Amino acid sequence: MLDILPDRYTALITGASSGIGYALLNQLLSSSRAGRIITVTRQPFAIDDERVISLTLDATTDEGRSALNQQLAGQPVHLFFNAIGLLHDDARKLHPEKRLDQLNADSLQAIMHVNAFTPALLIASLMDSFKGTHCCVIASLSARVGSIADNNLGGWYSYRASKAAHNMLLKTAAIELKRLNPTSIVLCLHPGTTDTPLSKPFQARVPSEKLFTPDFTAGQLLAVINKRTPEDSGSFWDWAGKRIEW
Ligand SMILES: NC(=O)c1ccc[n+]([C@@H]2O[C@H](COP(=O)([O-])OP(=O)(O)OC[C@H]3O[C@@H](n4cnc5c(N)ncnc54)[C@H](OP(=O)(O)O)[C@@H]3O)[C@@H](O)[C@H]2O)c1
Repeated sequence: MLDILPDRYTALITGASSGIGYALLNQLLSSSRAGRIITVTRQPFAIDDERVISLTLDATTDEGRSALNQQLAGQPVHLFFNAIGLLHDDARKLHPEKRLDQLNADSLQAIMHVNAFTPALLIASLMDSFKGTHCCVIASLSARVGSIADNNLGGWYSYRASKAAHNMLLKTAAIELKRLNPTSIVLCLHPGTTDTPLSKPFQARVPSEKLFTPDFTAGQLLAVINKRTPEDSGSFWDWAGKRIEW
């Protein structure tokens, strides 16, 4: 698993306590190749494996990113997998918008902040761990609905826009990172509809064969990552290994 990474690699997973992030963590742990896995979650998170260092912090804040930066102290990270994402939150009255008259600035700001600004700010604050000459893969979960070319249905304004912005920020970071680490590979990934708290309210019309388990999705995404080379840096892929148009 993940032959493109060196033996005893260091991985960082943000959003590791739920859905796809948690499944991916378990898949990395199922192999002896992982040296150290740093997990970032907002609530305390215990996993019984001495290779895991669990950090409790909120990566969407400056304080959280600064604490993470201090913990990493510039040590090389070979895989950064970002699984943070927000689509709905009843407590904050955040729901995907169907029509323009449902748009409001607070919701747009909240979704943009978590889905687009946070991954880019994480990369910015952890550059000391990414630059150099070591193999470095940054894989961040996007969504096909963030593809402007693929937008035939409309709706979900803020989530779509946040993923499109995510993709632009990651693509731009890929170009800069290439100069700072020629072996870097920055990827935007679409996991497919996966049975997690994020998709739960929207699963009713999804045929069962198109609703993936988090385990299946994590395995697919690892296989997609494993086939990439530095020439692929700054690209957008789905769970089946097909490229997605921006
Ligand atoms: N599930 C799908 O069908 C699907 C489809 C397309 C794209 N995606 C994308 O895949 C990624 C992972 O989603 P998932 O399905 O695994 O969802 P999930 O189970 O709800 O997990 C989302 C993760 O995001 C973090 N998060 C959520 N809201 C946050 C907030 N306000 N501030 C900070 N962190 C927050 C949580 O981190 P903590 O661990 O700190 O709680 C959680 O681990 C997302 O980017 C999502 O957009 C999912």
